[in-house]
Amino acid sequence: MLSTRLAHFELPPQWSTMREAARLERTGAKGIIHLEKGDYVSPEFKPPPEAVAAVTTSLKDGFVRYSPGPGLWPLREALAEEMSRRGRPTVPEEIIVTPGAKFGLTASLLLLLDDGDEVVMPDPGYPPDEFWARYLRAAIRHVAFRDPRNVDADQLADLIGPRTRLVILNTPQRPNGQLIENTDEVAEVLARFPHVAVVSDEIFSRIVYEPYRHRSLASYPELKERTIVIDTFSKSFVMTGFRIGWVAAPVHVAEKLDILLQNSCTNVCTIIQEAALAALRAPGSYSEQLLATLTRKRDLAYKVLSGSRRLSVDNAQGTFYLFPKLPEGTDGRQTVRRLLEHGVAVVPGSAFGTAGAGHLRLTFTLEDDLLLEGTRRLVEVVDQTTGWDASSGT
Ligand SMILES: Cc1ncc(COP(=O)(O)O)c(C=O)c1O
Repeated sequence: MLSTRLAHFELPPQWSTMREAARLERTGAKGIIHLEKGDYVSPEFKPPPEAVAAVTTSLKDGFVRYSPGPGLWPLREALAEEMSRRGRPTVPEEIIVTPGAKFGLTASLLLLLDDGDEVVMPDPGYPPDEFWARYLRAAIRHVAFRDPRNVDADQLADLIGPRTRLVILNTPQRPNGQLIENTDEVAEVLARFPHVAVVSDEIFSRIVYEPYRHRSLASYPELKERTIVIDTFSKSFVMTGFRIGWVAAPVHVAEKLDILLQNSCTNVCTIIQEAALAALRAPGSYSEQLLATLTRKRDLAYKVLSGSRRLSVDNAQGTFYLFPKLPEGTDGRQTVRRLLEHGVAVVPGSAFGTAGAGHLRLTFTLEDDLLLEGTRRLVEVVDQTTGWDASSGT
């Protein structure tokens, strides 16, 4: 009855712990500390008040009809300015407003890939990229990193062949919270292969800590015309549940994206588009405050984790994640199960690809007391446990 394309369909692996923790809570478990979410957890994180007010105003004004198309013009204008500031000179016609970055990624892959095309993506990476590449029957090649911050540029060059249609990269990277530092080298490699499109997932572009700076691959003039930038209001403005993002792409690609959007979801909810515009226009102090709070929490969590005898951890350069490494040979999934028994939920790094095995991914967006308690408990369990099954290394 179902399409043969669905053979690989599974729920998002990066949410496996979230599902398990919710199941435990439904059956009476109490006090689980949620470090596993890809979201702002503490209620102290709020969207800009201007965005919330815009929702109410547009509802009151009856702004509740269809608005088919690529996004409200003033929002596309504001996003074009945002992208131009990022080093990619952009006109509003190159902006398509999407129901979240994930849909922007999905739509881009649907537009770019044919059966048997090759697509290069990082490992560890963002599971939906692989999910849709498999749906489209593309051949997946994983590019490795020389270290957590530098793409193995020689390997990238070797991986690209005549059938390669697309390279996907994300910076600041998740799950590991590090920037890609060698963007110059990556751009130089990609410039050598004009038949290859680039999807640059930049959803944490505004969540970058001092002294680091985000560099968009689309800001390299030689790549601009074949790079599709994916971004979202989810992380920059604490609007994860609003479901709104955008794509910046050359006009001929943007036009196709618009057609795809109008034939699938028609338009992004209009009142949410108004909220997004208000968020972009919010005073700069909103983003400064958000970054200051995240920096403080990042350092709280990092201090506890780096005190562990058995974990090794880099502090995050961007995002709201830390990605500590377990001792060599430790089974990541078993560790996650053990931690859940102790009331701490984290994601096994292997959920993001085989190169993530042996790591744990955790968010630091919790209330300070819960963050401290959760990370302390995590360190206690990892440091005190010896003799775990070292066989699978997942
Ligand atoms: C790399 C990456 N891309 C895209 C998304 C999806 O963002 P959105 O909430 O806008 O769909 C996420 C969400 O965590 C992500 O980590």
